[in-house]
Amino acid sequence: MAEKRDFNRVAIQWDDKPRRVQLAAGVADGIRRAVPLKETMTALDFGCGTGLVTFHLVDSLKHVLAVDSAEKMLEVTLEKARENGIRQKIDTQLSHDHFPDNITQSFDVIYSSMVMHHVPDVAALVRSMTRHLAPGGYLALADLDVEDGTFHDDPTGVFHHGIDRDWLVSYLEDQGLCDVQAGTVHTIVKQRKGKEDTFTVFLVSGRRQAE
Ligand SMILES: C[S@@+](CC[C@H](N)C(=O)[O-])C[C@H]1O[C@@H](n2cnc3c(N)ncnc32)[C@H](O)[C@@H]1O
Repeated sequence: MAEKRDFNRVAIQWDDKPRRVQLAAGVADGIRRAVPLKETMTALDFGCGTGLVTFHLVDSLKHVLAVDSAEKMLEVTLEKARENGIRQKIDTQLSHDHFPDNITQSFDVIYSSMVMHHVPDVAALVRSMTRHLAPGGYLALADLDVEDGTFHDDPTGVFHHGIDRDWLVSYLEDQGLCDVQAGTVHTIVKQRKGKEDTFTVFLVSGRRQAE
């Protein structure tokens, strides 16, 4: 099994790379198109990192629980929330390898960006997320499409070379979600060794039936 990647080491400089900032903006736009956000909604960002996606969406939400397995990422997220005067709208929770067992509430929206390929058992994660959706709640998952293994220069903690969006669509439907749809929300261009490589990022979303 691949060794776990230590995201704590990179938390402070995470936002310095324009590529990451642009990607988060693309994912957030995709979430806005797929999910009718409302200021009454509670949300959970799984694998929030420094909150790049969350800070695009939080104005249209009541509250976001930002979850990550790297403590330093959560510290940066909270510091940014303080700086932006929205500390009361964001709480953080440290997770370990899976969806935290002690989260008992349900959410109107659960979203995640670029995390699933770092998680060994994606199906178990998706099942946990689905169980934590409020009736009528939305799940929105963004990640790399299946790639040839060249996306990461360092393979540490990379359990999947992208995620098969068709598999994910079927899996969300199997979990009982409705209105499941997939689309491309961003293209990452990497210039390496005089060569340009492109990698597409999908968003798959679905909704739990209202009771
Ligand atoms: C590539 S970064 C993406 C961060 C953020 N979502 C963004 O779009 O900028 C992956 C994040 O997932 C977190 N992560 C990786 N495995 C995780 C797991 N099993 N549970 C929770 N978070 C995890 C990492 O600590 C890191 O912050």
